[in-house]
Amino acid sequence: MQVSVIILAAGQGTRMNSDLPKVLHHVAAAPMLHHALATAHSLEPSRIVVVTGHEGQAVAASATAYSEAVDCVVQDPQLGTAHAVAQAAPLLADVEGEAVVLYADTPLIREETLRKMLEARSRHAVVILGFHAKDSGRYGRLLTKNSNLLAIREYDVATEAERAITLCNSGVVCAEASLLLSLAAEVKDNNPKKEFYLTDIVEIARARGLSAGVVLCDEAETLGVNTRAQLAEAEAAFQTRARAEMLENGVTLTAPETVFFALDTHIGRDAIIGPNVLFGPGVTVESGSEIKGFCHLEGCHISRGASVGPFARLRPGAELAEDVHVGNFVEIKNAILDEGVKVGHLTYIGDADIGEHTNIGAGTVTCNYDGVMKHRTRIGKRAFIGSDTMLVAPVTVGDGAMTGSGSVITEDVPAEAVAIGRARQVTKPGLATRMFEKLKAVKAAKAKGQ
Ligand code: UD1
Ligand code: CA
Repeated sequence: MQVSVIILAAGQGTRMNSDLPKVLHHVAAAPMLHHALATAHSLEPSRIVVVTGHEGQAVAASATAYSEAVDCVVQDPQLGTAHAVAQAAPLLADVEGEAVVLYADTPLIREETLRKMLEARSRHAVVILGFHAKDSGRYGRLLTKNSNLLAIREYDVATEAERAITLCNSGVVCAEASLLLSLAAEVKDNNPKKEFYLTDIVEIARARGLSAGVVLCDEAETLGVNTRAQLAEAEAAFQTRARAEMLENGVTLTAPETVFFALDTHIGRDAIIGPNVLFGPGVTVESGSEIKGFCHLEGCHISRGASVGPFARLRPGAELAEDVHVGNFVEIKNAILDEGVKVGHLTYIGDADIGEHTNIGAGTVTCNYDGVMKHRTRIGKRAFIGSDTMLVAPVTVGDGAMTGSGSVITEDVPAEAVAIGRARQVTKPGLATRMFEKLKAVKAAKAKGQ
């Protein structure tokens, strides 16, 4: 089945009280717009059109950053949801099959729900996604008779009796693409707000002798974000759902309610995630690895059998091969750690390649930045970096080499060599006792003087 998706993202979002366009605010470390795009992509559509308006360039840039295959069209001025859909018409003139309308400020709609709507198209020409609202507020009300949808009544124009209806419009619409566009083109702005309401297409379709129907979903799924409070609610709802899905997929979460996932987090079966772990964008964790408590991860890959944390920070470009161990208070950025590397404690590894089974001692720092440029540190296989080594990049340490503890390594270390870059130790017998006596005498003299 051919499907096109139209994502409405032109609204200003005044109630967010923000300089950022509403649809670029984040839920689960991704702009809300990307949630709509991800849902759209799950339908494997032949075309996706994003209707932009307010801060259109920023919104379009975010859409194309998600996927080059997305088309954007500008709606200016913004005269309502039907007017927004109509802007997509030139881009959809030649398409066949179904069209689905999504809102970019409604990030929690699921693929299964849209599939149910597409299925319901065999019974109705226009299918609307509805829900039973706990508080119907200003949602459009669905006027139904048996299994037929008669009309959608916007709150502003609804009678008292209609306002009492709790079956509400989510905004998601499904119809044959050419029909949807011709219905949207017929909508008039004869309402107090002088807006072209997409919701009017139901009555227009019925006047043409076509039928309309409703598919129901949970209210949580249609949560629309208009305020920061609703943004926080959407975040919480996303996390609740993501945690349940992870558990279902065979990931152990010892304290699920304290773990936060991103829209694109991938975790393999039998991974174990401890408490208070935060996944930023772009993290993949393979099966059978363990992330201990209080880790902060973004843009990184953790392979099978690796263990990370507690209290580790993996930043973009951190790639951990199989059985790597990263311990507490370790930060890794833009670095490749080959199989079996151990970085146990208190270490910064940035812009580095580390060969298999190398051990990095506590307190090691790759000094990757000279104040102007970044440089790379290369360490071979089975090397041993002594505790508190400063590796001043660009620098290379060969296979099987060692550095002495406390060394500042500024020159390359050949394979199998030991490099020591620190002052030689001086030991003075008895000096400590004499110094203690002297200091105590100074202290006593001071006390007397007071
Ligand atoms: C809309 C529905 C209402 C439904 C509610 C669900 C209409 C007329 N009303 O109302 O029945 O219960 O959503 O949340 O459709 N947009 C544009 N261009 C415009 C106007 C809006 O792109 O000219 C976009 C907005 O960015 C937003 C979406 O369309 O993503 C919905 O617009 P909004 O103004 O929030 O509609 P509601 O009044 O909430
Ligand atoms: Ca809204």
